[in-house]
Amino acid sequence: MTTKAQAVIDWVDERFPLTSSIKGHLTEYYAPKNFNFWYFFGSLALLVLVIQIVTGIFLVMHYKPDASLNASGVPVAFASVEYIMRDVPGGWLIRYMHSTGASAFFIVVYLHMFRGLLYGSYRKPRELIWIFGTLIFLALMAEAFMGYLLPWGQMSFWGAQVIVNLFSAIPVIGPDLSVVIRGDFVVSDATLNRFFSFHVIAVPLILIGLVAAHIVALHEVGSNNPDGVEIKKKKGPDGHPLDGIPFHPYYTVKDIVGVVGFLICFSFIVFFAPEGGGYFLEFNNFIPADPLKTPPHIAPVWYFTPFYSILRAVTYPLFGIDAKFWGVVAMGAAVVIIAFLPWLDRSPVKSIRYKGGLFKAILAVFIVSFFILGYLGVLPPTPGRTLVSQICSVIYFGFFLLMPWYSKMDKCKPEPDRVTG
Ligand code: HEM
Repeated sequence: MTTKAQAVIDWVDERFPLTSSIKGHLTEYYAPKNFNFWYFFGSLALLVLVIQIVTGIFLVMHYKPDASLNASGVPVAFASVEYIMRDVPGGWLIRYMHSTGASAFFIVVYLHMFRGLLYGSYRKPRELIWIFGTLIFLALMAEAFMGYLLPWGQMSFWGAQVIVNLFSAIPVIGPDLSVVIRGDFVVSDATLNRFFSFHVIAVPLILIGLVAAHIVALHEVGSNNPDGVEIKKKKGPDGHPLDGIPFHPYYTVKDIVGVVGFLICFSFIVFFAPEGGGYFLEFNNFIPADPLKTPPHIAPVWYFTPFYSILRAVTYPLFGIDAKFWGVVAMGAAVVIIAFLPWLDRSPVKSIRYKGGLFKAILAVFIVSFFILGYLGVLPPTPGRTLVSQICSVIYFGFFLLMPWYSKMDKCKPEPDRVTG
């Protein structure tokens, strides 16, 4: 480096921890050398977060959160999205990137969480990383739910109507709470305005803060890896972990492979199948919101459907309180219980590589039933489907609540001392 450039860096370093941060988080941050495919999804989640924020900024330049009707009798909000799609130069691309980005975010985050489950990444000392992760997941759900109201189509309107109404099932405070959430007695312009404000600023700020906390916590304890071995336990004479390599350049370069693979899939959907077969953009949402016409079947977007199925699976009232309330409790509990995994898993090993058949079989049943719940959440309920979703909901909660028992019973293989590659 030229002496002038070095002098500038020295000047900055005396006032701001630039070089020390680059060293601490990149060039001298030692990550396990055996990261595999599953380790792409953290950096990809960051990439999608950036895509959503940047495309969101451009959408807000043209979008109008206004439920009143324009001269043609179309809600202004709906018309502003159509305007973005047809008249704003490149608007269609920005909008499709944002709508596809929402689904991509959940695909990436679900795979990222699944990796945690496979390799026991939530176990000591990474409990806080996991808790921040669960909070991110909750914030992401709120962000997606409120964003979905903004195009003010039939599904936006009726989806919000159904979900906000659920809160009214809470005893005593419920009816007032749902009015506070809507800002009105029905989903209306007031609801659209407050959801807009939460979607564009409040929740993104929370998300960014949580992601920062997530990564700070990760860098404090260091990454787990597919063997579940703590690399900090075996250090060389230079004080660096024997099984570690500097994050930069090794993983900054490796992550580019994931980014390219992701962008190929992402572009394919944006350019050739932005509706994702009606799963990414529901067909009913191309019809402007009409408070007088309920669509025959209201289904949430695919990423909510496993939890929506759990909600619908509860059909019995309890203690004199409506089944709807217990459905809401079950749905909330299904997300919150994820945060408790670090204390539910009592296995002597972290990674699935060394776990026994019992854990693997139960994990497989859990995954299958999660997919079934997701699929049933898209369909209108029938007595048969409700029964299946009740069975799958029991499996879902059983997976977590019985874990202290079966993770101890499982016959594990011994964990190696060093990573195996
Ligand atoms: C916006 C969403 C998220 C972003 C941007 C994000 C980002 C990251 C990044 C960059 C890493 C390090 C690279 C890697 O290990 O893949 C990471 C690690 C991790 N994340 Fe996330 N994450 C998000 C959501 C979540 C969620 C929802 C959970 C779980 C509930 C979670 C749990 C974890 C765990 C346990 C690790 C450590 C993994 C290990 O060391 O093996 N993250 N995250």
